[in-house]
Amino acid sequence: MKTQVGIIGAGPAGLMLSHLLHLEGIESVILECRTREEIESTIRAGVLEQGTVDLMNEAGVGDRMMREGHLHHGIELQYSGIRQRVNMHELTGGKSIMVYPQHEVIKDLVAARLEARGEIIFGVSDVGLHDVETNSPRITFLKDGAEMELACDFIAGCDGYHGPSRQMIPASVRNEKKQIYPFGWLGVLAKTPIANPELIYANHDRGFALISQRTPEIQRHYLQVDPTEDIANWSDDRIWSELKARVETDGWELPDGPIIQKNIVSMRSFVCEPMQYGRLFIAGDAAHIVPPTGAKGLNLAMADVQVLKRGITAFYQSGDMNWLNHYSEVALRRIWKAQRFSYWMTTMLHTNFNHTSFERSVQLSELDYVTSSRAALTSLSENYIGLPFEWEKERSLQI
Ligand code: APR
Ligand code: PHB
Repeated sequence: MKTQVGIIGAGPAGLMLSHLLHLEGIESVILECRTREEIESTIRAGVLEQGTVDLMNEAGVGDRMMREGHLHHGIELQYSGIRQRVNMHELTGGKSIMVYPQHEVIKDLVAARLEARGEIIFGVSDVGLHDVETNSPRITFLKDGAEMELACDFIAGCDGYHGPSRQMIPASVRNEKKQIYPFGWLGVLAKTPIANPELIYANHDRGFALISQRTPEIQRHYLQVDPTEDIANWSDDRIWSELKARVETDGWELPDGPIIQKNIVSMRSFVCEPMQYGRLFIAGDAAHIVPPTGAKGLNLAMADVQVLKRGITAFYQSGDMNWLNHYSEVALRRIWKAQRFSYWMTTMLHTNFNHTSFERSVQLSELDYVTSSRAALTSLSENYIGLPFEWEKERSLQI
C-alpha cells in the first residue's frame, strides 16, 4: 500500500489531520488498533475552546456540535463556600467554549472521513515504523493476521501517550519533561438533571470537585482523590456525599441519581521535545499530556495538527521542508503556554494534603486575588478559552 501521509491513531489528532489534509487534496491512511465502536464510545473530557469550535465549523464537521453541544459564556469558581461566575465572554471580547464530548467529535470526524472515502484501517496490531530518517518511511502492521506495509512520504504519530511513534525518536535526541501530581480524578457519569448551566470548579478543604454537563439527562462530575485509590472503595453513596460536601452552598443543592460509569485517573504533565525526527512528526497525546484541570488535552491535539497540516501542505505546494522543520518549535510554543496554564489551574484548585497551613493560606489568597482582579480574571479567561493562533502565524511567517 502507498499513500502520502501515513497516520497512526484515530483519536482527535489523527482524524482531524487526515480530514484537514483531504481538504487540501492530500491523501492519507489512518491505522488504528481499536475498533470503530471502541473509539466512538470511550468517555473522555468535553470542553472545546473557541479555536477548536471554529476549526470544526471551518472544516465542515461542526453541524452536530452546533446543534447538540452546549455553548458556555463562562465558568464558576468556588472556594471557602463562595461561588463566583467568571464572565469569559465579556472578558475575552465575545468568545465562548462548547461543552461537547470528545467521543462525539470522534464520531463526526470518522463519519466525515468515511463519507469522503478516506481510509481508516481499524483493528490493526504490531504497528512498526521504519526508515523515518529517510525520504521513504514505511509502516508495517498486522490486519486480520496478514502482514501489511504502508509506504508514505511522511508519518504522523497520533497514537497517544502509549503508542509506538514517540519511541522512534532516539533517546539521545528525545528530551522528556514530566511532572507527577499527588492527585487523581474520580470521574462519574450520572443519570441526573443538569446541576448548573455552567461548569463549577470548586476548591475545598476535603479536595477539589468539578461539576460538568453532558445531556439534559446525563451529567459528568469529578472528585479529587488519591491517585492510588481503589474505585471499589467508592460506593455511589460515598461519591454523592463527597461531591455534595465539596460543592453545595447555602441554598444550592446538587441533584443526585444513579451512577452509570465511574473510574479514577492519575494526573501528570508531560512534554516530549522535539516533536519531529526525520519524516516522523508526533502530535497530540503522543507528544504531551496535560492534567485535565485546564481542559486543554483535546484542544492542544487540534492545535498541533493545524500547524502540521500547514507544513505538509507547504511541502506539497513547493517541495520546501522549511515549514515542516519548524513544526516542533511552533507547536511547542503553544504547548508550553497550555502546560503552564494547566499546571497553574491544577495547583490553584486542588488541595495538597502535604502543604503547610501557610501554603494553604497562600492558595486561598490566590483564589481571592484571581476572583477579584479584572486583570487576573482576563488572564484566566483568555487562557481557558484558548490563546489566539496569531502566535503561530507570526512565527511561521518569519521562517
Ligand atoms: N497502533 C495503532 N493505533 C494506536 C496505537 C498503535 N500501536 N497505540 C495507540 N493507538 C491509537 C489509540 O487507540 C487511540 O485511538 O491512537 C489513538 C490515540 O488517540 P488519543 O489517545 O485520543 O490521542 P490524541 O488524538 O492525541 O487526542 C488527545 O485525547 O486522550 C485524550 O485527553 C486526551 O483530549 C486528549 C486527546
Ligand atoms: C468534562 O466535562 O469532562 C471536563 C470539563 C472540564 C475539565 C475537564 C473535564 O476541566
